[in-house]
Amino acid sequence: GLLTGLGAAGIAGASGLAAGGLIERDTSAQGDLARELSRGRSAPEEGRPPALLTPTPSQVHVVAVDLRAERPDQVSQQARTVLRLWGEQARELHEHGLAEIVEGAPTQGLHPASLGITLGLGASLLERAGLAGRRPEPLADLPEFAADDLDPALCGGDLMLHVGAEDPLVVSAAVEHLLGLVREHAVVRWSLPGFQRSAATAADPSATPRNLMGQIDGTVNPHPDQAQFGPQVLAAHPDEAASWMDGGTYVVVRRIRMLLDDWFDLEPHQREQVVGRRLSDGAPLGGDREDALPDLAARGDDGEPVIAANAHIRLASPERTLGARMLRRGFSYDLGWSGGRREIGLLFTAWQADPRTGFTAVQRELDEGGDALNTYIRHEGSAVFAVPPVRENQPHPAHDLW
Ligand code: HEM
Repeated sequence: GLLTGLGAAGIAGASGLAAGGLIERDTSAQGDLARELSRGRSAPEEGRPPALLTPTPSQVHVVAVDLRAERPDQVSQQARTVLRLWGEQARELHEHGLAEIVEGAPTQGLHPASLGITLGLGASLLERAGLAGRRPEPLADLPEFAADDLDPALCGGDLMLHVGAEDPLVVSAAVEHLLGLVREHAVVRWSLPGFQRSAATAADPSATPRNLMGQIDGTVNPHPDQAQFGPQVLAAHPDEAASWMDGGTYVVVRRIRMLLDDWFDLEPHQREQVVGRRLSDGAPLGGDREDALPDLAARGDDGEPVIAANAHIRLASPERTLGARMLRRGFSYDLGWSGGRREIGLLFTAWQADPRTGFTAVQRELDEGGDALNTYIRHEGSAVFAVPPVRENQPHPAHDLW
């Protein structure tokens, strides 16, 4: 559901406010949740990357920047400055909100909206800063995939800023503020705003959200209650060189355009075969509930597999990918039309301990197995960032790099 695969801390924090009497009780569950989220703060918890602590926000903006400098010592200097400014401001914004720290801010009169800021470092930053020796092995470049249709202008980046909240104005104003602070040091390489349905609109806010293809997306995901969550999602770096990432996570961000005219030309039952799940309730074909285990061996009366050989969930299943797992948090994007072309799709983010055994292992299966979904999507942007854990009242862990 909305909370699937995410720490309960964000919600717990918001409920704390409710218990303190700040929230008027609403009889409907979605009223409660929507209010808690929109009024909540998302102060990061010790030792965890903030984006993984909060429920998936309904609004997000991922911005990748490059530092302006070219000489390694100057790149280092700028990286330190930007990380310090963003680290300090993130703390202020989490605690006080923009309106309290900037006079005349656009967010005056708005609740904090669970604003959450997450910072990531790209491999290009470490290489350009002369810190190749501190580059953790999981921060490897992604290999090329047959299905790639990447535009270099939509890929990579020295640093990532991931801003999420329950309100689009709060996100926009925070991004503007944070980028304004570092204008002298950094230029935006690419950025992509995304969204999910809001808790206030959902008939059942705990239900797994749908993407713009109409599919329930996010069902199979590691959950923080599960023993596997730590090993699969959080990075373990006992080695000295990469210790700055111990307890962090690696995020793979992909801009995946959807060819929705072609998709909706398919009959609904054909769309179900592409993924291997029912459109109505997200149950695996042949199963009766969303959380039923897909029966990949089942065959129909015609002797054909019930879940097709090239169905997305068959190829992405742990059986095929040796149990590779990542926390997938998908957002929709809709940028209208550009040069007459529809710019709409999935802002795919996947958080894992090691992209080589997470995203890359799965994407390779989807590629080599000829994922039926590939006809209806185009991978246009790609990046990997190291997301260190947050340590309260301490400088950003990336400062250990210098
Ligand atoms: C499952 C959609 C891209 C990995 C699913 C499901 C849907 C879906 C509807 C079934 C429900 C669920 O478990 O969430 C999409 C769409 C994509 C896309 C529309 C692109 C626009 C990707 C990519 C990866 C990926 C790029 C990783 C490389 C997975 C995994 C599962 C999954 C691991 C769970 C499989 C299992 O049942 O074990 N996806 N997906 N997906 N997808 Fe995707």
